[in-house]
Amino acid sequence: MSQAPYKQAENYRYAPKQVDEIIIRQFTFEFPDDLNPYWIPGHVVRSHLFNGFSLTMPYLEPFLVKTMREASAAIQVPELQEDIRQFNGQEASHYKCHRRLNEIVKTNGYEELAEVEDRMQRSYKKLGGRSLRTRLAYSAGFECMTNGFTHWLITKRRKLFAHADPHISSFWLMHMVEETEHKTVAFDTYMAHSGQYLPRAMGVFHGSFHVLGYGFIGMFAALRKDAVLQQPRVVAQVIRETCSLIWNVGPYLLRALSPRHNPRGEVDPQWMQDWIAGHASLPAGAMIPLVDTNTLDMPVPFNRAPVT
Ligand SMILES: [Fe+2]
Ligand SMILES: [Fe+2]
Repeated sequence: MSQAPYKQAENYRYAPKQVDEIIIRQFTFEFPDDLNPYWIPGHVVRSHLFNGFSLTMPYLEPFLVKTMREASAAIQVPELQEDIRQFNGQEASHYKCHRRLNEIVKTNGYEELAEVEDRMQRSYKKLGGRSLRTRLAYSAGFECMTNGFTHWLITKRRKLFAHADPHISSFWLMHMVEETEHKTVAFDTYMAHSGQYLPRAMGVFHGSFHVLGYGFIGMFAALRKDAVLQQPRVVAQVIRETCSLIWNVGPYLLRALSPRHNPRGEVDPQWMQDWIAGHASLPAGAMIPLVDTNTLDMPVPFNRAPVT
């Protein structure tokens, strides 16, 4: 499809981020082959819901990288160009790691998830044909929703991941730390491209519900495989997890709909800042230590004291 040549919005001005730098980290991190896809004891629905979200990432995140790279070609702000380069570096690490996790989940009992992946592949191919403005609005909208996810997962980590598999818990928390670190980039890129309010607001719904929807489709596919969807206990869990997601992430979507919204207005969790400082103290190439999900506070895994 031929599209209008891209130009930077005339009134766009770059503003400093909350973090000094977006760091592309080595994901020195591995999942064991015998990993149990039912990784949060007592919470089969939550386990499969996060597995469903993980399933979307190797389709979503390459789409974000491609979209941002395309926009970057005509951006004349060196700070934003550098942000985009680092954003893309982080997202590329994320989806490669999610792909490894997803392969293990499929191999260890849920090969049916490949059908959901086929659907996502077709959906993102179609989305790739939309205008750059629509794709950037989708990207900015999704990243606003992710900021809500970050706060939810980090501040409620004890409730969500107590006694859960430390590999998957640590990976999700690490992913969310980096999402917070680059939370301004897709928004800034959209603002530099057009800045128009209405397409951005539509992108909040489009980006959020498209990804969440496929996460839930993946979750239901796994629950069908388990043949537990008829159980009242499981139905109650589905309702509870859905309400929890809406309660914790919904306010971020509402705030993103404000014409004056800027992700810089969201305060970063202290745990995220401690994780970044702790990681910086690791020797180059060292394995990233796992969060201890059996401790009460689930502190950052770098022997640094402060916790939210
Ligand atoms: Fe990511
Ligand atoms: Fe992201």
